[in-house]
Amino acid sequence: MPEYNLDEVHEKLTASLTGTAELAIKKFCQTVPELPKQAYPEAMVGMGYQYESFDMMFALIAYHVQATHDESDYRDRFMTMQNVLQPFCSEYGIEAGRPLANPHRKLYLDFYESVTGKKWPSVYPPSSAGHWINNGRFWADRMINNLKCHGMTSMDRAKYNLGYHWSVEYLSIGEFEQLREGWRKAGFDGAYIQAHCDVEPEHANCATAAIAEFGIVDDALVRRGIRDHEYDLVGFYTENTELVLAEKRRFAVREKVREAVS
Ligand SMILES: [Fe+2]
Ligand SMILES: [Fe+2]
Repeated sequence: MPEYNLDEVHEKLTASLTGTAELAIKKFCQTVPELPKQAYPEAMVGMGYQYESFDMMFALIAYHVQATHDESDYRDRFMTMQNVLQPFCSEYGIEAGRPLANPHRKLYLDFYESVTGKKWPSVYPPSSAGHWINNGRFWADRMINNLKCHGMTSMDRAKYNLGYHWSVEYLSIGEFEQLREGWRKAGFDGAYIQAHCDVEPEHANCATAAIAEFGIVDDALVRRGIRDHEYDLVGFYTENTELVLAEKRRFAVREKVREAVS
């Protein structure tokens, strides 16, 4: 059984971060209030696609840890799995010791409908439908491909996945705090965002414990997983920021043309 102090483990893991994702998220959230209202539906569907892809990533991470069945220590494995599954279950409103709540996907649907006044689409549009969905799909695919760790052994894949998982959970604390601020400035509050603000610190603790229980705190593959997710987030949010600015220019031109012909 690995002996560890959760605070020390947490400190070691945070030392692997570069801070670039935090900056990219901040920049995007500061830009959110500038997004023209007409662009909300497409923007929120594209981002929602990427947000939903985390559910697939959690399933993959859990699979990759369990798939070390023949190699990892029996006890370490079930303790790690318990810590991986808690944040995953939370996505579906299943929280230990609490009544069943709404799945995060339902909260996002409600958020979308309250902000846009439109019905949430029952199926995502094709990538050719626009930049937002294309961007959401591109970054979802990239993150999932990273987690697949093509060519690695099952133990290495699990180590990398647990690092990536920690990065997802830890960085989402600041991500949702920033998103709450950005969307509030735009005039919207959503239970979707608040639900994450309420649970992400707990999730990050589970992710820290998962790495500690697996006995891989100092492993280079854990650090690589942490960094890779950080860079993936930088890419996703930087492109979203560019899209907000492009939408702003696009609608400003339309407004000018409208004024000129009226
Ligand atoms: Fe969620
Ligand atoms: Fe989480």
